[in-house]
Amino acid sequence: MSDRAPADRPSPGDAFPAGGAAVVRERSSVEPEIAVVLGSGLGGAVDDDLEPDREFSYEGLPGFPPSSVPGHAGRLVMGLLHGVPAAVFLGRVHFYEGHGIGSTTLIPRLAAELGATTLVLTNAAGALDPMFRRGQLMLIEDHVNLLGANPLSGWRFRSGMPAFVDLSEVYDRKLLDLAESVADREGVEAGRGVYVAVPGPSFETAAETEFLRRAGAHAVGMSTVPEAVAGVALGLQVLGISCITNVAGAPSSHEDVLAGAKAAATGLRTVLSRVVPEIGR
Ligand code: HPA
Repeated sequence: MSDRAPADRPSPGDAFPAGGAAVVRERSSVEPEIAVVLGSGLGGAVDDDLEPDREFSYEGLPGFPPSSVPGHAGRLVMGLLHGVPAAVFLGRVHFYEGHGIGSTTLIPRLAAELGATTLVLTNAAGALDPMFRRGQLMLIEDHVNLLGANPLSGWRFRSGMPAFVDLSEVYDRKLLDLAESVADREGVEAGRGVYVAVPGPSFETAAETEFLRRAGAHAVGMSTVPEAVAGVALGLQVLGISCITNVAGAPSSHEDVLAGAKAAATGLRTVLSRVVPEIGR
């Protein structure tokens, strides 16, 4: 059996972003300034604030695997978010779904192809630092990639260079400061922290939780990092917001995570309602 990726695995130079953009542009004239990815159970954070123009099921977008995770809608909505032209991705492609690390970069690649210049990534995460409690937000200031794979593996820039991308500032400082001051002003409980991405889909053992804490992370999840890294490689400004849904290492289920996401969605909505119009300015 060959261990080579099947020919249709998303990888640099493939036609998926251009193909996806063509599908979208055929039916929507929205030219997004911003792309937003809503993680597990977080779709409600934009529901009332989004004027949809057109919706696309991920299944209809070239290269996208069908969404298979309850709580992840698997839809792209083109429209106005808080009045700003936006591509809103409801649900994402996770590494744990087994489609390969390349599949996790489909969203940022499509977002960039559609012309977005800012990528807002949201997720559900388990608290490692006791400072963070369920329902609060963690504004991501940096990350640790423990996925065991790099989303830029196999990438080549037009020059032929591998993607030796500078990751010294993945999360845009200005956006981070803006989100922090908005949260502060609006009374949303939020703090800065380091997000660690693990492959999942199982949750952490108590020993793994302690290991991650000692590695310097404040919250743990199974997403976001590949999209953020690809976003930087594509020249996008990235803002990352974790919604703390549970305490990592304590007994947890996907249902707990979805319930925790609901608890955090109000704060996320408030922050987005102030940050998105600023980005569109
Ligand atoms: N661990 C890993 N991923 C998660 C968690 C967690 O506790 N909560 C939400 N996503």
